[in-house]
Amino acid sequence: MRDGTATREPIGVIGTGYVGLVTAAGFAALGSDVFCVDIDEGKIQGLREGRMPIWEPGLAELVAEHRDRLHFATDLAPALEHARLLFVAVGTPPTYSGDADLSAVHAVVDAMPASDAHALVMKSTVPVGTGESIKRVFAQQSKGFAYVSCPEFLKEGSAVKDFLEPDRVVIGDDGDWAGEAVEALYAPLDAPVVRTDIKSAEMVKLASNAFLATKISFINEIANVCEETGADVVEVARGMGLDDRIGPKFLQAGIGYGGSCFPKDVSALKQLAGNSGYHFQLLNAVIEVNELQKRRVIAKLQKHLGSLVGKEIALLGLAFKPNTDDMREASSLVLSARLQAAGAHVRAYDPVAEDEARKLIRGVDLASTAGEAIAGADAVVLVTEWPEFKTLDLAAVAEAMRGTLVVDGRNFLDPAAARAAGLTYEAVGRPAVNAARRSPWASAGATGPTAGSR
Ligand code: UDX
Repeated sequence: MRDGTATREPIGVIGTGYVGLVTAAGFAALGSDVFCVDIDEGKIQGLREGRMPIWEPGLAELVAEHRDRLHFATDLAPALEHARLLFVAVGTPPTYSGDADLSAVHAVVDAMPASDAHALVMKSTVPVGTGESIKRVFAQQSKGFAYVSCPEFLKEGSAVKDFLEPDRVVIGDDGDWAGEAVEALYAPLDAPVVRTDIKSAEMVKLASNAFLATKISFINEIANVCEETGADVVEVARGMGLDDRIGPKFLQAGIGYGGSCFPKDVSALKQLAGNSGYHFQLLNAVIEVNELQKRRVIAKLQKHLGSLVGKEIALLGLAFKPNTDDMREASSLVLSARLQAAGAHVRAYDPVAEDEARKLIRGVDLASTAGEAIAGADAVVLVTEWPEFKTLDLAAVAEAMRGTLVVDGRNFLDPAAARAAGLTYEAVGRPAVNAARRSPWASAGATGPTAGSR
């Protein structure tokens, strides 16, 4: 990446969530003045004062470093005045039907003035055909806007890196000035650029997410068969991943995918296909496997503990994945609800998602260290593979617990170390390890494990 010190085209960014804020900070780092717009006054005020609305590694630093090029407002005027390209990064959450809710996108379209000199650049994930219908609206309203689809592929937790080092940049346009202008903005990143039509660009995004989700549900089903047959899915994924055509990424079996994108986009693609008259059978299975995968933990707990009524269960990790405080569609939400429905008492710890958890989870005691969550537990479930859990002293965990069962939902801990610590260890798609040295009902321990304090 070349350093963006030369003066570059100013842009507007509408929506300051994960995608919008990272896009804004990223283009500011490449040298553009960026005019950010959000209807949330509190968020804009916070950003002006240097407060981040989200927890994302490296983002606060990037925003602070390029603060002089970042401008925050609640109205569109400064963006329209200073920029030709207006990136749209507003939410497109799922509706109850599973379709994408495009009301925020439509609000942006309706707010645009008549202009031949501006373009909307769609970053939000939208159904195929959205660009076409927005262009129709612009034409009906005689607004003259150009339109570009430029989907975003960043992952939470590595969003800044993903923006600055993308695998590819996809630009769908009508061959007018705006596509060229967007490509020029990305030029310093030296990434492969896919120039295509608008509908194909929209489909690249949905198909990419659906394919990755399919890969995860596939390896999760392989894991479930491994459990029946005695094979080890970690070994199987290693052997599969070395095939260039398969690749090693997104082959980590676990307790299901979550987050703001996969569940929403898989369901939106399924609905889109259905609305167009095609029954997308594979995606039905991908969704169902993912839902069932989250619940398999319960059966593993019951296998060892019998009824869960009155049992103390500790959840380690609540975010949908490490390095984010995002809990949207997190497996922890389903798990904590199911455990409580089964009569268990749940204590949970997450290094950063505690505030989010307070908003989203009821009836769960939130601990401020892993040790606090684990102390006196009949079973510990590792839900999110936060790095600090790698260094848990498993002997101290075993000491602090009332029982011996650890269910590792992410195949993250070392089975041999668990065995040596006297724990009963259940992973996903790996042979279980039974407690070697301790009785399952050893008395509640004294001191907590050493890792996990903040
Ligand atoms: C995803 C896409 O990767 C990204 O390109 C898109 O822009 C947004 O959606 P994100 O939701 O941030 O990004 O997270 P990702 O790292 O892809 O993980 C999604 C979920 O899949 C997590 O719950 C994760 O735990 C799970 N996962 C991932 C697995 O269960 N196994 C894997 O091998 C990989």
